Amino acid sequence: SGVPRLVVVSNRVAIPDPTGKGSAGGLAVALKEAFEAHRGLWFGWSGKVAAQPSTTPRIVDKGNVQYALMDLTPLDRQEYYNGFANRALWPIMHYRIGLSEFSRADYAGYLRVNRSFASALAGMIQPDDLIWVHDYHLIPLAAELRALGVTNRIGYFHHIPWPAPEVLGTLPGSQDLLRDITEYNLVGVQTDLDADNLRRGLVQEVGAIQRKGDLVELGEKQIRVKGFPIGIDVNSFQQAAKRSSTNRLVRQTVAGLGSRRLIIGIDRLDYSKGIPERMESFERFLIGNPDQRGQVTYLQVTPVSRSEVPEYATLSRVVNETLGRINGSLGEPGWVPIHYVNSTYPRPVLAGLNRLARVGLVTPMRDGMNLVAKEYVAAQDPEDPGMLVLSKFAGAAQQMTDALIVNPNDKIEVAEAIRDALYMGREERVARWERMMATITQCDIASWTASFLKDLSGGRSPGAGRI
Ligand code: G6P
Repeated sequence: SGVPRLVVVSNRVAIPDPTGKGSAGGLAVALKEAFEAHRGLWFGWSGKVAAQPSTTPRIVDKGNVQYALMDLTPLDRQEYYNGFANRALWPIMHYRIGLSEFSRADYAGYLRVNRSFASALAGMIQPDDLIWVHDYHLIPLAAELRALGVTNRIGYFHHIPWPAPEVLGTLPGSQDLLRDITEYNLVGVQTDLDADNLRRGLVQEVGAIQRKGDLVELGEKQIRVKGFPIGIDVNSFQQAAKRSSTNRLVRQTVAGLGSRRLIIGIDRLDYSKGIPERMESFERFLIGNPDQRGQVTYLQVTPVSRSEVPEYATLSRVVNETLGRINGSLGEPGWVPIHYVNSTYPRPVLAGLNRLARVGLVTPMRDGMNLVAKEYVAAQDPEDPGMLVLSKFAGAAQQMTDALIVNPNDKIEVAEAIRDALYMGREERVARWERMMATITQCDIASWTASFLKDLSGGRSPGAGRI
């Protein structure tokens, strides 16, 4: 047909699930929507652990997408996923040098899984395929594919922040990762700051040369490094939020609230999200505004995440302790200040809860984009929208300048923003909401996919809008 096939590679592969349940991770959602209308192959981890490593993937055909799934051995999962990706790389990428635990064995496991993914994938590649690799689990994949003779255009999108070279440089192996990056034709990151950091890293750490604009050169290789802020399917989330009033869980929440106003936070249980810090900011708010006690309920929806990584287990204890202390000291019979639930809700329920909330708290210590911020805005009632409180350290803050922007390290500042959001008049809320809505609609998931693939295919729009 002349339309190149799209080959997506990511650690998590989300096979469409008719029940609409699934992980709260932004990547799965974005890719699911990117794939909805297009012919392609989606390759990655099955999510399963097996005693024998896969040498060939298990194939599942669904619609026009073929899924190719690899099992990991328990050791692979430990070293590649829990170890290097989530215990060494993740904290560094989120500027948390002190939380990063490097081990040579984990790094070797990370390279081993990338190599075995590449050798299982290489034979499936057709000459015209566009290959699009996602996220920090798979940085060396292009280098491994090149070593096997794959010459296709390969793009990489980094969903999480890319830190300054001085931060990344503390991680052993980081120079190799930067060299691996140069095997891609196009590297997308969330913000201009991330792009700047990565280009600076390539220049300072591996001797690349900065050319005009987004171009960086290393020897014969030319790499474009560019910001592609990811978005959501605004329309479908908005529709889901509208319809949600009949949902049982949403109705129960309404009934439980009575006349109280709802403040909401939705995050994976991850230290980058600033959950205990947020709870303490809410505590500050209640202490500073005693008239609000019994008038508001803060609901924090937090699916457990990466619980085998020790730093996540520690976070879980800290959150439980903080929550118990605040509810114990400020709660009253008949009023629990913070409701904390670890369930993973279907997206329509999350949309409905967002719509009920008068304030959305999105206060990560550091975040690539944060799609929850965009979802909160998309879910609001246009006539009487709630207000978003947003950390300046989320990529989304670069775009959503009409939110109440805060530094999550300053609990008093966040407490004041909660108060301002609650007291903001309807007219101002509507005006701010309309501007934020315009921004997220313009940068939605369809335009993100289209612009990345356009650049990856060399400036042409592949198949004139069909991808
Ligand atoms: C972030 C990452 C994704 C990841 C998701 C959930 O959004 O960018 O790559 O899939 O978190 O984390 P998990 O470890 O459960 O895949």
